[in-house]
Amino acid sequence: MKHRTVFICQGCGTRSPKWLGRCPGCGEWNTLIEEVDEERSPAAESAFAPAEPLRYSDIKETESQRIELDNQEFNKVLGGGAVLGSLVLIGGEPGIGKSTLLLQASRDFAARDRRVLYVSGEESLAQIKLRGDRLGVGDGALYLLAETNLERIVAQAEKVRPQVLVLDSIQSVYSSKLSSSPGTISQVREVANQIFRFAKTNQVPAFLIGHITKEGSLAGPKSLEHIVDVVLLFEGERDHSYRILRALKNRFGPVSEMAIFEMGGAGLQAIPNPSAFFLKERPTDEPGSVVVSTIKGSRPLLAEIQALVSSTLFVGSPRRMTIGLDHFRTSMLLAVVEKKLGFGFGGEDIYLNVAGGVTIDEPAADLAVVLAVVSSLKNRPIPSRTAVFGEVGLSGEVRSVGQPLARLKEAASLGFERVVVPQGNLVQLEKGETPSLEVLAVRDVRQAFKLIF
Ligand code: TYD
Ligand code: MG
Repeated sequence: MKHRTVFICQGCGTRSPKWLGRCPGCGEWNTLIEEVDEERSPAAESAFAPAEPLRYSDIKETESQRIELDNQEFNKVLGGGAVLGSLVLIGGEPGIGKSTLLLQASRDFAARDRRVLYVSGEESLAQIKLRGDRLGVGDGALYLLAETNLERIVAQAEKVRPQVLVLDSIQSVYSSKLSSSPGTISQVREVANQIFRFAKTNQVPAFLIGHITKEGSLAGPKSLEHIVDVVLLFEGERDHSYRILRALKNRFGPVSEMAIFEMGGAGLQAIPNPSAFFLKERPTDEPGSVVVSTIKGSRPLLAEIQALVSSTLFVGSPRRMTIGLDHFRTSMLLAVVEKKLGFGFGGEDIYLNVAGGVTIDEPAADLAVVLAVVSSLKNRPIPSRTAVFGEVGLSGEVRSVGQPLARLKEAASLGFERVVVPQGNLVQLEKGETPSLEVLAVRDVRQAFKLIF
């Protein structure tokens, strides 16, 4: 069958029936790439039966059409298992452990009598087996295929009829419908589309592994993110053993859910108590260090916020650096500290960091940021075994945040004795069963400051 192709600009998406050196849309050079013209192809139209509108109440319950993973942490990040017929993209830098994670999941599926097809376009069967031996793959129905041609992969998948499909990696596979090379945006998109169709038609969950660049973009495919149902990111520092798996997009569950693993001699091991893990190396009685009880996905996490305030060498434009916190929000908080607590930072560099490479994107960390900065500036440590949470407004008021009880319980479970909380959260806390620790409610930053220092 002859496939009609179209040329699409990788930068702006402009379509052209023929190749052009310069995109008429955005004016960039050499950005037009060939793609199968799905929009006009009759095959694409006949692939699904024409849909008809259904009355809302006639639509059958679709929950529970999931298969559970033995790995509880992975399971949770997926929103409670892998949804049948869904396409999951797992992105991460080379060497981070994507193949390991999915081979382990395949092992578990196979051990439960599920037929799994693990396709690798990167490694030979012998190499995969070598890894499998370390991971303790047993003799369940796990099928391996080393292949890079998409059409042959789909043909094999139709023969094997797996209940779970893994494709490692999307950049190493190519469709013969296109003349462009593997890993280009057009190939990556075509591969995703065909696997998507396979997953939907056969009602199997399919996992795609994708390499991402150091800058963090899923290579080529911003365009992939809207095709797939779930985007997971697997990240961590090369020289640390821990890895964080988190959801960027999930059509079937919450995003910002995260799981932490440790890479060891026998593969990835879930870390069930992340708070303890991230506080493990916390210095005690050091100025500038504050523990915040934050919420990540559905679970509370204790993280350490560190501030370092030191006199600047850049007179006139001191440095403001943040890692793991929102930069603009932090600038705002610094302004609040100056105005409401009367400190001047004009001659100081300020560095803020969340220890362990965690990112915190909720305002509930505001109070911790404020206290960390003041603690470093005054060179006075925050009393140990004290955790805080609370949003800070522009008038310096400390505002209530969600899930105060979960935050308190997490702090109590790790041996914290005192928690500074927003006054507004007290009512909710009194209703629930507060764990046995000292709760200090504050109305504004000035009160928090007096209380702590
Ligand atoms: P891998 O899964 O191949 O990474 P990716 O598919 O993301 O490129 O894993 C890479 C690293 O993990 C590799 O450096 C070896 C290490 N590793 C372990 O430390 N323990 C193990 O049990 C396995 C299988 C791998
Ligand atoms: Mg790999």
